[in-house]
Amino acid sequence: MTTASTAAARRISYQLETLWDYDYVPTHHELESLYETAKKNQWNGSTALDWSRSVGKEGPVLNVQMAFAGCPSFEGKSDAEWKDIETLVSSWRLSQFLHGEQGALMVAAQLVNSVPDLDAKLYASTQVVDEGRHVEVFEKYVKKLHKIYPVDPLLKALIDEILSTDMWQLKLLGMQLLIEGLAIAAFNVMAKQTGDRTLGDLLDYVLQDEGRHVNFGYFALRRSIPELPEARRQDLEDFALRACDAMYGRDERTGFMSIKHAYAELGYKDPDAVYAEVLATSMTMKMFNRFLFTEVLIPRLQRLGLISDRVAPRYREIGLIE
Ligand SMILES: [Fe+2]
Ligand SMILES: [Fe+2]
Repeated sequence: MTTASTAAARRISYQLETLWDYDYVPTHHELESLYETAKKNQWNGSTALDWSRSVGKEGPVLNVQMAFAGCPSFEGKSDAEWKDIETLVSSWRLSQFLHGEQGALMVAAQLVNSVPDLDAKLYASTQVVDEGRHVEVFEKYVKKLHKIYPVDPLLKALIDEILSTDMWQLKLLGMQLLIEGLAIAAFNVMAKQTGDRTLGDLLDYVLQDEGRHVNFGYFALRRSIPELPEARRQDLEDFALRACDAMYGRDERTGFMSIKHAYAELGYKDPDAVYAEVLATSMTMKMFNRFLFTEVLIPRLQRLGLISDRVAPRYREIGLIE
């Protein structure tokens, strides 16, 4: 068991206004039922999941064979080689979600301080507890696998920008809408890929919580964006475009590239070439991207008015809108 030793910075400095709300007047009526559901659906990671099953080298993890189908570098592998691939790739992937959950925990805590309305602060307080529990269960699970991989540089850069901004709307857009949107899509795929019931249950429980978090972000942004000065609204647009451009893995410059460390560990001499090959040939990757961007993220951004004529041409160039 190796823990993450990483060159990524541990300290982020930022200035954030903390706001009191002395009005005690409910403003976000749509958050009422979300808050009630959040209180009702709390679960305990220690007891809700069966931690006694063998996973990783001794049992099933994520079945990644489908994801690599059609990639020449992954053809003709023996069962033992597949076991290694599965264990390392699962470790890398789940490590990124572990880091992402820690980022979400810190962003949710910032939102308690910075959102102006008390009912939104109360909702955010439930998300702090949810994300704490997600960090707990992912940490416990990843530690049963190969190792905790360092945080991916793209994920780290996005979360750092979300943590350092003084705009709470950008925090909601970046974390609740984009990163948690990505997480939900990926958790759904992984829940189907896994042969391990503990991981399947873990993902089911986490998904219930994440659905609320995305709704929270969407409701709060839908209310706030029309009231923003144009320059700040454009800040949101620019961030969404930059994040989608970087996260949409389509060539050797985009996507979460630190998986190359796992490829190198698996013995591939040219991890850059394997990365490019997987992007070019993996049907699972293509289907995932199509689902995530064209069915989930882009329609949501359009409904929020964040794909204006100013930024639409660039989305078109990238291939994310028609
Ligand atoms: Fe989470
Ligand atoms: Fe979340």
